Amino acid sequence: MMQNRESVNVLLVGGGGREHALAWKLRQSPRLGNLFVTNPENPGLAALGKPVDVPMDIRAPFQFQRFCDKNNIGLVVIGPEEPLAAGLADILAAPGAGRAIFGPGAAGARLEADKAWAKQLMRAASVPMADGRTFTDPAAAKMYIETREDPPVVKASGLAKGKGVIVPQSTAEAIDAIDRIMIKREFGEAGRTVVVEERLEGHEASVLALVDGRTIYVLEACQDHKRLGENDTGPNTGGMGVYCPGGITDDATIAQVQSEVLVPTLDALRRDGIDFRGVLYAGLMITPSGPKVLEFNARFGDPECQALMARFDADLLEVLLATATRRLDEVEINWKPAASCCIVIAAEGYPVKPRTGVPIEGIDAAAAVPGVQVFHAGTKRDASGAIVTAGGRVLNVVGTGDSMGEARRLAYQAADLIRFPGKVMRRDIGAKAPALAGQ
Ligand code: AMP
Ligand code: GLY
Repeated sequence: MMQNRESVNVLLVGGGGREHALAWKLRQSPRLGNLFVTNPENPGLAALGKPVDVPMDIRAPFQFQRFCDKNNIGLVVIGPEEPLAAGLADILAAPGAGRAIFGPGAAGARLEADKAWAKQLMRAASVPMADGRTFTDPAAAKMYIETREDPPVVKASGLAKGKGVIVPQSTAEAIDAIDRIMIKREFGEAGRTVVVEERLEGHEASVLALVDGRTIYVLEACQDHKRLGENDTGPNTGGMGVYCPGGITDDATIAQVQSEVLVPTLDALRRDGIDFRGVLYAGLMITPSGPKVLEFNARFGDPECQALMARFDADLLEVLLATATRRLDEVEINWKPAASCCIVIAAEGYPVKPRTGVPIEGIDAAAAVPGVQVFHAGTKRDASGAIVTAGGRVLNVVGTGDSMGEARRLAYQAADLIRFPGKVMRRDIGAKAPALAGQ
């Protein structure tokens, strides 16, 4: 695929299950030199990479830049949305430094970090989406809600770790959502502006595409499960589980998403002078009148990434490098095995106040199940070296197989071996996968 076969040192930014999965896949590349990780407190990342030995504070970017220069970093991979929105890619893409950056600059990351702006861009580009309006005045937002026949969805415009969306059951609840987001500021500054939009019916799909500024490479579609509880009940979370392929499994709908959503969005970004290199992630509702955008993200989904990496049959380092250096047209990716299912194991209290410091048992036994990968999302080692909970989403257990039924069975077989007090996990991840019907 490439002429230059020299080894490449990689800096991986981020500390969750998504980054553990990326590190695991990067490690399989014969071209990988040193892998540096910003979050070695994640035991999964600590086992695969070297810790970055300077404070990674985005407000003091010189340390970052000097670290990259000193360690001859050829590729920086930025996982989470916060550093992307804060402009880390811009800071590290120093001209002449010879570093490739996987992940858009702040201007591109705005697609995720500013939902009001993203809606404006989509409207201008005629991208199908939920109709909606943006408000900075709570009274005006409430008045608008009262004029609607059905209660609309209320979203904090800024970044809220996937939790800033309220899907009310009644008009009173929608009005309360305005108070929670704009007045009580439950999601902090992210709630300065709200988006109020029509509630769409259908099923959801996550379509992630690699984008090198020009070329789009659509990855296998996934279906996430955003609600905390089984049968899609309870509060929204960052995602409780994913299966892949899922959400969309026919080529015609994928082609429609590419031509009606991804291409016009990328064109609109380019017209604004934004060179987007990284993952363009469309969160979609597949409605009776076709796919419509619920949100964009400017990064790999978490846990979509874990389910994708388990099936990704290509050299991830080459692919990320090609994306970051505008050579995506040279890439070929295969998907093997045929199906994956990722179960998120969360801590008691998630998504409000997860209980941390709880010792976890059975990780090694789960990881030993054939066809299963276990990724660390919110764990750490305590003073005695034992692995304990350290975040809301604690572990991701990914089963793979030749069918979704097998992938799912293995994932639950392994996930059941992991034990800790207060463990939370949905038992219905992938239960509605079309391939399972009748099984
Ligand atoms: P978002 O972060 O915008 O994807 O929203 C989180 C979740 O809220 C989505 O995955 C949907 O389950 C739900 N949601 C968001 N917008 C809408 C909408 N317009 N209609 C129905 N459900 C929605
Ligand atoms: N799993 C949804 C997200 O990463 O935003």
